[in-house]
Amino acid sequence: MTGTTDLAEAVCADDGRLEGVDLRVLAQRLGTPLHVYSAPAIGARIRALQTALRGQDALICYAVKANSNLAVLGLMADAGLGADIVSAGELQRSLRAGIPAGRIVFSGVAKSADEIGDALAAGIGRFNVESKDELRLLQDVAAARGAVARASVRVNPDVDALTHAKISTGKSENKFGVGIDEAREWFADSTRLTHVRLDGLHVHIGSQMLCLDPIQLALQRVAALWRELTSSGYAINSIDVGGGLGVRYRDGQDQPVSVQDYAEVIRKTLDGFGGRILLEPGRWLVAEAGFLLTRVLRIKQGRQRRFLVVDAAMTELVRPSLYDAWHEIVPILRRPLPPQIYDVVGPVCESSDTFAVDRQLPPCEPGDLLMIKTTGAYGAAMASNYNSRPLAVEVLLERGRYAVVRRRQTLEEMIAGEQPARNWECA
Ligand code: LLP
Repeated sequence: MTGTTDLAEAVCADDGRLEGVDLRVLAQRLGTPLHVYSAPAIGARIRALQTALRGQDALICYAVKANSNLAVLGLMADAGLGADIVSAGELQRSLRAGIPAGRIVFSGVAKSADEIGDALAAGIGRFNVESKDELRLLQDVAAARGAVARASVRVNPDVDALTHAKISTGKSENKFGVGIDEAREWFADSTRLTHVRLDGLHVHIGSQMLCLDPIQLALQRVAALWRELTSSGYAINSIDVGGGLGVRYRDGQDQPVSVQDYAEVIRKTLDGFGGRILLEPGRWLVAEAGFLLTRVLRIKQGRQRRFLVVDAAMTELVRPSLYDAWHEIVPILRRPLPPQIYDVVGPVCESSDTFAVDRQLPPCEPGDLLMIKTTGAYGAAMASNYNSRPLAVEVLLERGRYAVVRRRQTLEEMIAGEQPARNWECA
């Protein structure tokens, strides 16, 4: 049951247990909505990727944005992973979790001077630079600190990732990276960079990719640039292949690529590259290890539809509202009765607060516990306090035991920092 790479098997919903922990007891003790993460399932994914990359000089830099809980980051740190960060907040989380600064890469289109300064002070490994303006800023901030920043240019290879438009990043119309021509110019001008060592290439074309072709095409374009730059005398010491590996959200429909095939594409396209390969997987490492537990509040028969009203909302899992994403929903107790059709909806006052439309489920009753699957990535990490809902509790599971890794937010914590308008000041 544990340690398998087929994370679905980590769940044994038939007896209401996950990693040997009784989910009904957990829900009773901690309340719902409740995020649970299987530590062995995350560990199995880490090991599978490390094994697939064996023999290559590769460093996995976990994309912190997928799930930034300190305990999850701790698992990454323990396994020797680095981190891909996009903010000063993610930098601090990664350092606190014990990820060495030298294994941290900093991506993102809007790094501020302060964030760059913090990252330089911490001694991070590399900046993935996304615009000429950012390159100039990096040079200035590094010069002011008397430091030399290592940097890669994020190349936008103009490749369609064949995924949802809202999570595509590698087409020229997207805000990310720079075109290959511009990347070439950066190297030509790089002698003027006294405090930036531009010696790497970075690419990330999108997320939830279920096909290797776009990844291969993007890497081929990056590899051609690396070869060209090398033959022009520029040293390229690092190629960052980004993240984006997809996972199975919909049983019987989504077919994730094998990690061995993925590693093989990297090995083949970058054949002959003597530097270090960086990878930035987020979702693939954590998505299938996470589950959102929610209780049925009531069943509401509308004029046209039957609503299963649950206590989780878009505030705990926004993916269905934002991307029309499919997540499997499984009642913990399955009544052996003919299924019913429900729209599964949350308490938030938005029609888009809907987890599923026309979903066939075993008949449910108020008080039933449901498990929404594949919520380990971009679930809690994208949570909000909308409708003044406190952030949900998060729990790590392993071998019959659990640890609360984020307690449920209290009302006081939620409103901390707010105050009546008393101390007016002029500006
Ligand atoms: N590297 C960079 C530069 C990224 O922007 C991302 C994700 C990753 C790595 C990790 O990608 P992954 O391996 O997780 O696919 N909220 C969306 C996903 C947004 C992804 C943003 N960037 C969702 O819930 O589907």
